[in-house]
Amino acid sequence: MNTADTATFSAVHSEAMELMQQRRSMRAFLDRPVPQPLLEQLLTTARQAPSGGNLQPGHFWAVQGELRQQLTAALLADFHGQAPECEDYAYFPRPMPMQLRKRQVASAQALYGALGVARDDREGRDAQFARNYRFFDAPVALVVSIDSRFGPGGYMDLGMALYGLQLAAAAQGLASCAIGALASYPETVRSVLGLGAEHHIVCGLALGWADAAAPVNETRTTRAPLGEWFQILG
Ligand SMILES: Cc1cc2nc3c(=O)[nH]c(=O)nc-3n(C[C@H](O)[C@H](O)[C@H](O)COP(=O)(O)O)c2cc1C
Repeated sequence: MNTADTATFSAVHSEAMELMQQRRSMRAFLDRPVPQPLLEQLLTTARQAPSGGNLQPGHFWAVQGELRQQLTAALLADFHGQAPECEDYAYFPRPMPMQLRKRQVASAQALYGALGVARDDREGRDAQFARNYRFFDAPVALVVSIDSRFGPGGYMDLGMALYGLQLAAAAQGLASCAIGALASYPETVRSVLGLGAEHHIVCGLALGWADAAAPVNETRTTRAPLGEWFQILG
């Protein structure tokens, strides 16, 4: 590879590059509804994501009204009642290797630092964690599921669509945050939403206009340097 060729980005679609560089997870939203046609446009755009065999795995459920309140109440009951967590799929390595643990700790520090919640403030941390189950009070609460017969490849494809949705939202001035915490209690999600066991619960997604005044939205994460995860072989 000739690095001189790639030292600068071409001006073509430079806005797309900026969007990818500037997108951040937002965890507080304005009380401003997202029109359904806009939501549908974002989802349709996200579905342009590539997928193996063009199978387009995954299903997005917008949960609203009374049902959303029931879902939040049930998930909070699980969380506060310390119900056993039993995800439909494995996510984090167990035990967590030290290098990854450092990244996890740094992102938690960024979040709780923005909120002014101290490391040993268990109550403060739990209060923020509980907000996951309220979809951070975003106007749009999405539950993302996948056909239980898919393996890791299907999750990979769905992840691309999820990122597509976050980028499409950002392109329209909206903000979002994926909510893996939702996957801790899949039976509860299925039972409240009336879904069968064939729907594996992947995550949630909060979507809306960011509340720029909320301290939590000051959270800034970093990325591991290129040399830590990219090598040229041969
Ligand atoms: C699949 C997935 C699940 C996530 N789950 C949560 C979550 O449960 N709660 C939360 O506050 N953030 C969650 N996040 C957001 C990550 O913490 C965030 O993307 C990461 O720290 C990098 O920060 P950034 O998105 O602002 O660049 C999740 C992100 C992804 C992609």
